[in-house]
Amino acid sequence: MNRLVHRSLSSPRRVAGSPVRFLVRSACAQSACPPEVRATRVRRTFLDFFQQQHEHRLVPSSPVRPRGDPSLLFVNAGMNQFKPILLGTVDPRSNMASYRRVVNSQKCVRAGGKHNDLEDVGKDVYHHTFFEMLGNWSFGDYFKEEACAMAWSLLTEHYGIPDDRLYVSYFAGDTTLGLGADEETRQIWLDIGVPPTRLLPFGMKENFWEMGDTGPCGPCTEIHYDHVGGRDAALLVNADCPDVVEIWNLVFMQYSREADLQLRVLPQRSVDTGMGLERLVSVLQGKRSNYDTDLFVPLLDAIHQRSGVGPYGGRTGAQAHVDMAYRVVADHVRTLVVCIADGVHPGMSGAELVLRRILRRAVRFFTEVLRAPQGALASLVPTVAHSLGDVYPELQHEADRVMDVINENEDHFLSSLQQGSRLIRRTLDRMDHKHGVFPASVAWSLHRDLGFPLDLVDLMLEERGVSVDRHQLDQLIAQNHKMAAEHSGARSQLAVGVVSLAELQQLGVSHTDDCLKYEYRVEQNSYVFPACRASVVALFDGRTLVSHVMQGQRCGVVLDRTSFYAEQGGQSADRGYFVRDDLQEVPFSVEEVFRAGGYVIHEVIAADTLKVGDRVHVHLDQAHRLACMVNHTATHMLNFALRKVLGPSVEQRGSHVSADRLRFDFSFKGSLSVAQLQQVEECVNKMVLANQAVHVQEVPLHSAMTITGLRTVDEVYPDPVRVVSVAVPVSELLDNPTDRRTSVELCCGTHLLDTATIHDLVIVSEKQLVRGISRVIAVTGQGASQAREAGQSLLQDVDSLSARMTSSTSTCLNSAQSFAKEVGMVSDAVDNTPIPQWLRGELQARLRSLQRRSNTSVRKLETREAAVKAKAVLDNNGHKDLLVDSVEAESLSVVMKAVNQLSLALPQSHVMLLAHQRHSGKVLCACQVPKDSAALSASAWAVAVCRQLGGEGGGSTVVARGTGSTDDITEALRWAEEFARRNING
Ligand code: ALA
Repeated sequence: MNRLVHRSLSSPRRVAGSPVRFLVRSACAQSACPPEVRATRVRRTFLDFFQQQHEHRLVPSSPVRPRGDPSLLFVNAGMNQFKPILLGTVDPRSNMASYRRVVNSQKCVRAGGKHNDLEDVGKDVYHHTFFEMLGNWSFGDYFKEEACAMAWSLLTEHYGIPDDRLYVSYFAGDTTLGLGADEETRQIWLDIGVPPTRLLPFGMKENFWEMGDTGPCGPCTEIHYDHVGGRDAALLVNADCPDVVEIWNLVFMQYSREADLQLRVLPQRSVDTGMGLERLVSVLQGKRSNYDTDLFVPLLDAIHQRSGVGPYGGRTGAQAHVDMAYRVVADHVRTLVVCIADGVHPGMSGAELVLRRILRRAVRFFTEVLRAPQGALASLVPTVAHSLGDVYPELQHEADRVMDVINENEDHFLSSLQQGSRLIRRTLDRMDHKHGVFPASVAWSLHRDLGFPLDLVDLMLEERGVSVDRHQLDQLIAQNHKMAAEHSGARSQLAVGVVSLAELQQLGVSHTDDCLKYEYRVEQNSYVFPACRASVVALFDGRTLVSHVMQGQRCGVVLDRTSFYAEQGGQSADRGYFVRDDLQEVPFSVEEVFRAGGYVIHEVIAADTLKVGDRVHVHLDQAHRLACMVNHTATHMLNFALRKVLGPSVEQRGSHVSADRLRFDFSFKGSLSVAQLQQVEECVNKMVLANQAVHVQEVPLHSAMTITGLRTVDEVYPDPVRVVSVAVPVSELLDNPTDRRTSVELCCGTHLLDTATIHDLVIVSEKQLVRGISRVIAVTGQGASQAREAGQSLLQDVDSLSARMTSSTSTCLNSAQSFAKEVGMVSDAVDNTPIPQWLRGELQARLRSLQRRSNTSVRKLETREAAVKAKAVLDNNGHKDLLVDSVEAESLSVVMKAVNQLSLALPQSHVMLLAHQRHSGKVLCACQVPKDSAALSASAWAVAVCRQLGGEGGGSTVVARGTGSTDDITEALRWAEEFARRNING
């Protein structure tokens, strides 16, 4: 053991004002949980211990939506946000690159992917979908000895957990991977004083921690706690025994699991630890169950107040439905609050889909098992926000919106429950009950289309005495997983392994100098982008570094310098190509540009051979870049204008800028009115017209953060950071940080030098993404002019339709019908053409009214024409029980109306009319029979006649219609009459 560390731990520096020692309670009463073991205090002690006694930097929890990491559904461990540091891919300019010792309390969700506890929630008393992970990290700083010593000291000396309740596991090694047992860690624990009988070796599953299918990993050592004590519980460690639970995991990060399943050694060794707050609190409060601690008791009480059953009893096992439901609701509502507040909404794929299932599971258990009324789930949100809001204030700020989202989704679910019940009933009606096997396709559709959890489908079927075809259902599930996996792999990006990055660093290859991306100027009203000559300093073939690539090979090219912008900060990457100096006529077209650990990687398919050392000339697609710059600066102005018009509660929720448009998501309740849309556009366009200067300045992150009006998003910002402001220079804003007159944002994107280059901005779409979050899409410059022109032209179309409304629709059916068609076509164009959104709203309203009026007019004229036809038929045939005749008509609805009028005149008659439609050559057929006609159903009659004419028919037993074709309508009439007579006469 390192003596220095040992000394410092045995006489820890006291944290001012905070008691050092916690005593494990034998059982503290729920109502009177002593302050020193309350969850808030336990969390605080952990953070203070590492921050104040061991010089760790306190870092806030990241949101549970992973920051641009497609390998994760949710943030599932404290280390997720530090993955780039562990892998050595961290942007060297970012604040994170300087982290050495860090501590935090991280919101984690384990409900999908590699770490998924969803199935266990409710059944036992110590698994959760949402939990808080207390963790400390060393990035290339201390390692095993110090990590173990600190953990032991905190648990036994500060929290006062008796050491004879603790067991420690360590990695036993794995021969297939060529990894030996972690004897070093074992020895460290022995030195600390852990008896050999409590030191237990385990294999890969228990003691080799991996973040996901790929990513950082390493052997770990876990500390387990025996709730019973006074015994040898070694055999119960890792045996799924609720009395002996893992509380702290210390991972020694040394490897990266690559996509090819290989383990690659990481450039630096790190420590990553995680302790579940809920379990720790249950230990310190002397509870066997996490649900009996102050993190859950108030929530369970709130659930009870809303339920129609008795209080929570804490039972587990097959019979404990009610207690399981309590736990499910308590767990799930915490997950819902945290996820929705962080911008993950119940939806149809990925994390959103998982959240939708969690919500539906919670609603079902709450309403069905606990008999709570509709709306009860959302009413728990304030309790959760109150319990966690002091550490995660966003839960309090977002509480209203979270409630809205939960309520809205609950409404949907309850109505789809009814729809699902109907679908099950209809399927059962059609089924052969003797077999009692419900079709898997219908069960799957209930799950996929109506969003029923599969266990709910099972339950609903069980209640009806049937079960699903399990084999077929499993096949459908497997097929679906396969399709989803194929779909998710669609976006190819050359994986640049961490080893290759480390190798680059070891080889002393400097990070790419990409300052040129910002170096452009305006000359004679045009943007001039500098030429860029560069050398190839490294090549990846997708697996490793190579010295050269052959023609046709996909590869990643690192240049010593580049003018290309790599996709980041929501701005699309640049397009363009480079040529070899000695082969100027062969362009190497750049397909993707991305950053990895300070290097800019240009992904190309080599147009010829390329080798390290080659000199190249980089050509940027300047029009594409300028268009991105226009849209990016316009996005900042839109962000500013939205807050100005709609108020300060508007917060950016996402944005993406490409050359052809900009997309901006923001928090806002409801839809923007026509006036609000116009005001936002006006506000932006005023700034455009004023031709304001765009200022960019790099400043220390902490100074930038003092600017009150500064807009930021959830990103790791470099330090110093770029501040982009419009009209007012950044230095002035730093001098006067409360100045809110203008747009000011932290941003690494490329921006215009003045606002006039935007020319014009038009919002062409605005919709609610989910309740409380709106998305606008806007176009600028030429795109904006085109949208305005298209809007004007559609406005004229609608004006002209309005002017023609009465004249063309009042007298002639044909012109009324073609007018109605025209209204439909203009409506489609208004719905689908990029035009100003405020105008779209107005035009849609006018078109709806035109549509209503022209449809009424068509119906009236049809009725009038039908009356004339019916009278002629009646005059021609007189009163008959079976009346089959032809009429001249162009529309099926006129024929149907005529049949209907004849039936009114001859209630006891079977009536069929056929008409030859001139423009299509089709025969239109309609028929009606008396309601009590048992002999002939209208649909059977129409189907028979239309099939005889090579077409299709259908309808009800009383009224039916269809189409067919023939040159001999007389023969068709004869056949129709004959068919009817045969049936009527029996
Ligand atoms: N990352 C480790 C875990 O989640 C500490 O268990």
